[in-house]
Amino acid sequence: MLNRLKELQIEAINEISNTTDLKELNDLRVKYLGKKGPIQEVMKNMKDMQPEERKSAGAVSNEVKNAISAAIETKKEELEALAIQQKLANETIDVTLPGRTVNIGVTHPLQAVTNELESLFISMGYTVEEGPEVEWDHYNFELLNLPKGHPARDMQDSFYITEESLLRTHTSPVQARVLEAAKGKGPIKIICPGKVYRRDDDDATHSHQFTQIEGLVVDTDVTMADLKGTLLELARQMFGQDREIRLRPSFFPFTEPSVEVDVTCSKCGGCGCNICKGTGWIEILGAGMVHPNVLEMSGFDSKVYQGFAFGIGAERIAMLKYGIEDIRNFYTNDLRFINQFK
Ligand code: DAH
Repeated sequence: MLNRLKELQIEAINEISNTTDLKELNDLRVKYLGKKGPIQEVMKNMKDMQPEERKSAGAVSNEVKNAISAAIETKKEELEALAIQQKLANETIDVTLPGRTVNIGVTHPLQAVTNELESLFISMGYTVEEGPEVEWDHYNFELLNLPKGHPARDMQDSFYITEESLLRTHTSPVQARVLEAAKGKGPIKIICPGKVYRRDDDDATHSHQFTQIEGLVVDTDVTMADLKGTLLELARQMFGQDREIRLRPSFFPFTEPSVEVDVTCSKCGGCGCNICKGTGWIEILGAGMVHPNVLEMSGFDSKVYQGFAFGIGAERIAMLKYGIEDIRNFYTNDLRFINQFK
């Protein structure tokens, strides 16, 4: 019987040392040391033994159990350490692997112009406002001093949706909305970038949808000199610090007086080239002093408040700034065009 116990010890330790995983090891613990294990089985015969014999059999069986237990413990530590090693090895980071390339997009030139103008005007204390693209006739025309039947409505061929609503033909209706919301109290200093729509046939310089940036300043002490200073700053920011501007008389129903603004040609510097058609000047935007009717219709006292306004075509600025010859390039999403602005 003692021999059988020793045999079991050798057998168990053999199996334990050949194990390679923790689950298997646990099965061996149950197999050899559990209640139904072979050692318990052998010990059942103890009841037939002499007391002396029984005593030494008890001692040997304890030794065998302890030896198996110890072997299992040692193996367990070994396997656990190995598992940690393996986990660490699997998780090592190869710092020499080249990085994955991320394709970074390009800011669209119209967005770039808009961003640049927004930061310029924000730095001068303006806030950025927005308005709806589907607009009421009331804001798009009437509150801007363009009553129904006014001949100047023909300057802006419109996409009407109903008799009273249309796709806005300019960003000027945001002026009317902001004035109305201010309830007769200034000051107001806003710009408003956004899409506008006109029933034009598309060609190299016309598009049925384009981008405008409207500006409006209303306060108690605003003059044409403020307008001119602001526009000079704008021209220099967009086209270079040595640019000059000139104001030519013009007409818009919502401003009086109205002006068209030219900047000295940035290609030839003013001496005349193909870009400025030999004149040295390039038209960049329309502007003027807010018409008293516009102020009054939106609840401002025109004896107390004056204002100036301007409307910039973002496409026009971008075309001049980057030498783009066809306005349709902005809308066709051709990556060969867009990637040039990296
Ligand atoms: N709304 C005009 C247009 O689309 C542009 C414009 C001109 C806006 C003069 C203004 C302005 O605010 O004062 O043709």
